Amino acid sequence: MFTTEVRKNNEIFQAVLEQMPYGVTVVDADNKVVFANRVAKEVRNIDISSRLEYLKNEQRRVFRKTIFDQVKERYYEDNYKRIFDDTNNYIGSIVISRDITYTNKLEDEKTTYLRKLEEKIYELTGELQVLLVSSMSSLVYALEAKDRYTKGHSLRVCDMAVKMAEYKWGICNESKDIELAGKLHDIGKIGIPEVILNKPGKLTDEEFHYIKEHPIIGQNILTSMENLKSVAKIIRHHHEKFDGSGYPDNLSGDLIPQGARILAIVDSYDAMTSERPYRPPTAPEEAAHEIEKNAGTQFDPQWVKIFLELFQSGSITETLSVESSTSATYNDAFPNRFNISCQTNVNQKFSAS
Ligand SMILES: [Fe+2]
Repeated sequence: MFTTEVRKNNEIFQAVLEQMPYGVTVVDADNKVVFANRVAKEVRNIDISSRLEYLKNEQRRVFRKTIFDQVKERYYEDNYKRIFDDTNNYIGSIVISRDITYTNKLEDEKTTYLRKLEEKIYELTGELQVLLVSSMSSLVYALEAKDRYTKGHSLRVCDMAVKMAEYKWGICNESKDIELAGKLHDIGKIGIPEVILNKPGKLTDEEFHYIKEHPIIGQNILTSMENLKSVAKIIRHHHEKFDGSGYPDNLSGDLIPQGARILAIVDSYDAMTSERPYRPPTAPEEAAHEIEKNAGTQFDPQWVKIFLELFQSGSITETLSVESSTSATYNDAFPNRFNISCQTNVNQKFSAS
């Protein structure tokens, strides 16, 4: 009676296993196949009584293998579970196999689709960024052009800063960042009342407090663009001084981004050599001498050295003859800038021979 019941249950159990959409294989302690359902025989070509020899050396209790059937060109995933008795003796394994070709294909298609999507987003973000930067540059130029004393300032600062960066590093990402930071370093001034910006005389403390906000406003404007974060940082710190007495964060020495240390020099030089309502422009030689005098206090001595080398080569004063207009683009104002960047490593141009 009991044996009949067990046999019956066994038959039901085997019938259920036969109907399963997955391959089910059972091996004994010698790894000899004692049961394989229809799917296991079909998809994994498993014969009863054959052995899964590779299980002999396997120590893991549960593991997974992906198998590619070259004849059928299909992928299978085998999930292995080794069974042990109460005294920890190995008594056999169960292997569940499933065809994952379709899942793999879907996964591949999904990966390809996501990659293409990412490429498209990257491309569109780049285009959008070019547009945004160009709009912001136009804004800066327009802002500066309203005042004849500041007209063309950012373009000149940008040109001198790029010359310095490329002189030291050649054409690289840092130089490109400095170029953008030069163009946009005063973008934050759009948040400062014009009456303060264009005030001819000395500023009150309260007015100067407003002015000191412009590097922070500038950084905030750019921060929304993920790959302009380093440019935004240069802009934030372009009024820091090497000895830590600048603003907005009183950073000193190496803590000031390199680009900001460059901008600090050329920004001051351009301010000195530009006319103001209350004074005539300082002569270039005198302004360069001022920069030299302030090396180590206001400016990074390393960058001052480079500035002076370029000044003596005549490269800095070339910049002074350039003026922008409200409609000028950077390329209009410096038609050779990008040609130089693309064809010549300026390190070679100025290096001693
Ligand atoms: Fe500034």
